[in-house]
Formats: sequence, structure tokens, C-alpha cells
Amino acid sequence: MRPVSEIQLSSPSKVNLFLEVLGKRDDGFHELETVMLRTSLCDLMSFAGVEAESVSLRLSHSSARAFGKTFPLDQSNLILRAAQALQEFANVRRGAEICIHKRIPAEAGLAGGSGNAATTLKGLNQLWQLGLSKPELHEIAATLGSDINFFVEDCRAAVCTGRGEIVRPVPLNAQLHLVAARPATGNSTPEVFRGLKNSHAPRSAGDIVHALCRGRIDLITRHIFNRLTAPAKALNDEMSQLLTSLSTIARSPAFMSGSGSTCFVPTFNARQSRRLKALVAAAKDQSLSFVSELYSQ
Ligand code: C5P
Repeated sequence: MRPVSEIQLSSPSKVNLFLEVLGKRDDGFHELETVMLRTSLCDLMSFAGVEAESVSLRLSHSSARAFGKTFPLDQSNLILRAAQALQEFANVRRGAEICIHKRIPAEAGLAGGSGNAATTLKGLNQLWQLGLSKPELHEIAATLGSDINFFVEDCRAAVCTGRGEIVRPVPLNAQLHLVAARPATGNSTPEVFRGLKNSHAPRSAGDIVHALCRGRIDLITRHIFNRLTAPAKALNDEMSQLLTSLSTIARSPAFMSGSGSTCFVPTFNARQSRRLKALVAAAKDQSLSFVSELYSQ
């Protein structure tokens, strides 16, 4: 099929600096207050116009080697579901070839799949010259998942409420650095939510939001919190061990992102991240599927 034009976009990931569960809703989802931070870890996506009306998806050659077995290329992939939702919303039957160079691990709590869906909405809106507004893209995103709206909003940090889809950007007056690592096993988000115990006094994101606005990395670190950590640890021994070993190596607390299984340690600068990443990668006590220096972007 002859491409008629092509758009390339990077598709970012996030970490949660704060995540509180406020209750279970009648629709089965949980009411959340979470603070998301966009990170430098990105997939790369290209969108090429084709004459056919269908949308196809493929992995780049190098990521096919690493992700080929675990990355679905059928309609179960959020990328193709986002493309179809956009076609239906805008009532268009245009086609595209989507190619993705994958770097963000799956089942990691980094919202790689949600970022891909948001990037697809933006990329195809441009490619097909649909002219949909940001509120319209938000409307489609909310039908597809809970984390997609954060990436549609295009901000560095935000407080997200509802089931995660209501996004209020917060000014981030600092560059945050962290070292993130994922154990060999990932976490299933629904399973982690199911493991939550009911009774807890809810915490508020107020302190960490205040620290983000002031750019106080020391205070941000002090207020990082994730309510899903306990149920995720109960489900994933490797992740539980990783939290302990990261914190021992870094001599500071380690945290989990989203529903895991990525864990992270905040650092003060890129040099400290580089050193810590080398120490984590060299530690022989655990096999990791991923270790990386990330920063807010
Ligand atoms: O919306 P998303 O597809 O990311 O959610 C995956 C699963 O995580 C949901 O099916 C649900 O089991 C759980 N979830 C939840 N409450 C939320 C977000 C996700 O229970 N706010």
C-alpha cells in the first residue's frame, strides 16, 4: 500500500508520585486521587496514510525481537481500539499503517499502552486532518481507559481524579530524576485492585502538589505514596524483594508506580541517577527485565 504522508510522534510513559484509592464505585472501578508525572521513557510511533480504509499495526524490526512474543498486533491492542474509536467518533473510514518502536515495558505501571492510545488519537487526528479539539479527544480517551486522558492533556504533571480520567495539570517547577526498575514478572492491574483492603483513612495529594509547585525535590520525595503497594507486594514476591533491594542500594525509600511492577527511587540529579542505575544493574541478587534512568519531561 502506498503511504500518502507520514507523522512521527513520541509516546511517553508516566510514574505515579501519589496514588490514593478513595472508594469502590458501582461500575466496578475505583475512585482515585493520583499525581502523575510524564517521564523521558518513550516509545516512538509513526502513522502513515494509506489508500485502504483499514488500520494496521506493526512493531519496528528491533522491538519485534524484544517484544514480539508479548505485544499483540490485533484488535486487543489499545492502539487499534483507539484508531477505531476515532474513526467512529469522526465518522471517517480512513486507513493508516502504524509502526511502533517499543521501549516501555508492559504490566509495569508506566502506562505505556495508555500513552500509545493517546498518541494514536493525536497522530491520526493530524494524519487524517480531522481537526478534533482536545476536549473531543478527551471524550474518546475516557471511553478507552483510565490513564489515557493524562497523555491527551500533554502536561508534565497532573492530579488525576475520578477513575483517573479527570486531569488537572499542576505546574512542575523542578526537573525530577529517578531510577526505575522492573522485576521479571509484571502485575495485572485488576488483580492488584482486587487485593485492596477496604478500610483506610484516605490521604490527600495536597502536600505533594504543593511541593511540585515549589520545585522542592526533598519535599516531593517525602510525600510520595501509593495505596496499591501493599496488595501488589502480596501478589508479587519479586517486586517486594526489589523494593527492599532498591532501597538498600540507594539508602533511601523506594516506591512503586501505578499498580506496578516498576519500582523507583527518586534522585537529586542525572549524575546521582547514573551512579544508582549502575549499582542496581550490577546487583546480582535479582533478575530485572528493565532498569533505567528517567527524568520528568
Ligand atoms: O481503565 P484501565 O483499562 O486502565 O483499567 C484496568 C483495570 O484496572 C480495570 O478493569 C479495573 O479492574 C482496574 N481499575 C480500577 N479503578 C480505576 C482504574 C482501573 O479498578 N480507577
